[in-house]
Amino acid sequence: MLAGILSAARRNNPEYGITGALVCRHDLYLQLIEGPAEAIDALYALIGEDDRHFDMRLLLAEDMGERMFPNWAMLDDTAPSQFWSAEDVAAGALEAASPEELRAPFLRLAAAHPGG
Ligand SMILES: Cc1cc2nc3c(=O)[nH]c(=O)nc-3n(C[C@H](O)[C@H](O)[C@H](O)COP(=O)(O)O)c2cc1C
Repeated sequence: MLAGILSAARRNNPEYGITGALVCRHDLYLQLIEGPAEAIDALYALIGEDDRHFDMRLLLAEDMGERMFPNWAMLDDTAPSQFWSAEDVAAGALEAASPEELRAPFLRLAAAHPGG
């Protein structure tokens, strides 16, 4: 399933100027999407209709000076760096997290892939 999602992302995202990263775990996808606002809105709506997930939440939307993943149509993290446990997530940790806390796993991921 993840391979199908990633291949669509890598096929489509460059055309829309979208880059980002997708953390995949047994209990959640956590995705960072960066690019022009209209392209992100369109992609967000498209992903919302995808039945390979449910209960989609927008956790943070912000203007970013620089991209974190400029060279990745969609980087995947299948061995997710340490962050909230499944129990924390089920208890609402993501909704309660600050912007800094939400950015942290992606900053770690970007740091692990120098050169973007
Ligand atoms: C968690 C998740 C993340 C996704 N991320 C992207 C993405 O970044 N780009 C993309 O084109 N499709 C993404 N998709 C897939 C879209 O929902 C949709 O299936 C796809 O864009 C259709 O593309 P196609 O018409 O070229 O097959 C994602 C799906 C899921 C479930």
